[in-house]
Amino acid sequence: MARGNLITIEGIDGAGKSTLADALAAELRRAGARVELLREPGGVELSERIRALVKDPSLTVGARAEALLYAAARAQLVQERVEPLLQDGATVLLDRFVDSSLAYQGAGRELGVERVRAINELATGGLAATRTLLLRIDPTAGRARQQGRDDAPDRLEREDERFFAAVARAYDELARAEPERFRTIDATQPPGAVLADALAALADLGLAAAPAH
Ligand code: TMP
Repeated sequence: MARGNLITIEGIDGAGKSTLADALAAELRRAGARVELLREPGGVELSERIRALVKDPSLTVGARAEALLYAAARAQLVQERVEPLLQDGATVLLDRFVDSSLAYQGAGRELGVERVRAINELATGGLAATRTLLLRIDPTAGRARQQGRDDAPDRLEREDERFFAAVARAYDELARAEPERFRTIDATQPPGAVLADALAALADLGLAAAPAH
């Protein structure tokens, strides 16, 4: 059985990642692919509990603890769900992965991209995405979208413009450094156009041709 592909979706808060992830999973399944959609941090019990901790605005969480908590959530998700699914030939669609930590903790929290990359090597056992879709939106526009939602802002969403500008810049640099893996998509387009761009960006992987189980 051929190993499955890991596809990740990245971008700043308000870029529309989750909307795209749902639509993309549905579309690929409709075309016959076996797709598992998971989110980070989360996807398994331990990681969902860590998610609640890192998002809680009432907790004091230092930058290093934050980076390690995201890495711990990722380690458990990879071991418990992602690796077995890939070994079983499934396509795994992940709403955020290592690049989120590189951008948010490495650049946003100023821990350094390479230092954060090192702890994530340990967390993932070196697992890398086959393709990464970067939803690109101006940080101010992303914030406006995110603030238009009903739920109260979580601990990360309370950060200022400067933080999100640094995160957005880091994403752009990561995409420039790995053009084979990254595809950048204009997230200001209507959802249907974002989905069409995402499908085009994955077309060469032949995901839809994978046998359905
Ligand atoms: P989201 O699933 O609603 O996007 O929430 C995840 C939040 O956590 C979001 O603000 C981005 C942040 N985050 C990091 O800072 N580092 C990470 O490694 C991940 C996965 C998320």
